[in-house]
Amino acid sequence: KRLILIGPPGSGKGTQSPIIKDEYCLCHLATGDMLRAAVAAKTPLGIKAKEAMNNGELVSDDLVVGIIDEAMKKPSCQKGFILDGFPRTVVQAEKLDEMLQKQGGKIDKVLNFAIDDAILEERITGRWIHPSSGRSYHTKFQPPKVPGVDDVTGEPLIQRKDDTAEVLKSRLDAFHRQTEPVINYYSTKGIVASLHAEKPPKEVTSEVKNVLSS
Ligand code: AP5
Ligand code: ZN
Repeated sequence: KRLILIGPPGSGKGTQSPIIKDEYCLCHLATGDMLRAAVAAKTPLGIKAKEAMNNGELVSDDLVVGIIDEAMKKPSCQKGFILDGFPRTVVQAEKLDEMLQKQGGKIDKVLNFAIDDAILEERITGRWIHPSSGRSYHTKFQPPKVPGVDDVTGEPLIQRKDDTAEVLKSRLDAFHRQTEPVINYYSTKGIVASLHAEKPPKEVTSEVKNVLSS
């Protein structure tokens, strides 16, 4: 399967991705995770992306299209993939169509994580992540077994630099202006399924499984 997850910051894309990935043996390509790794490693890509990310603005289409094009060639992605956080502009969606056409493939489903903006601040400001695996926790909704520590590796959790109420405003603004049109782009192709992303994580997972098995 080739899947796209679209939703505003904090809607649960990164929380559901590992579950879907394991269930269907897909690779998980999260442009945000890849960019954060590049920023941390101070690669040329990371140096170019850092400022936009810290301000809650989108990184340029060329940069992210380049990393996705490269990542999709990995052998582990040949069976199918989950795109988490990409495409985020109509230009990115068009470029993705071109890349897939070359391989003779197409997107099967777009999962739209529909949720009211008002819920997102609490989710974002309470989030703690394990940087190397991308696992997220929440102080209230998904607390780790030991506060500040990853359940699996025992390594420390960190907060993302863009997870402040202030930067969230820019990220939401970018979502509504630049990413919502991508949902319409795929709606006209009849492949969008909308989820009730405000529900608890387990209920969202069941909705995802229902959509993917139908
Ligand atoms: P990215 O990393 O993609 O961030 P985002 O889209 O803002 O999404 P988040 O990761 O914040 O939200 P999520 O939906 O994954 O939430 P999560 O599951 O963790 O992008 C970051 C930046 O990179 C962008 O701003 C941009 O600069 C750049 N970028 C990335 N891709 C780009 C592209 N294609 N083009 C241009 N620029 C790009 O959940 C959040 C919290 O809520 C967690 O604490 C979790 O435990 C909790 N939670 C999750 N689900 C539930 C639930 N159902 N109930 C209660 N709590 C829940
Ligand atoms: Zn995420």
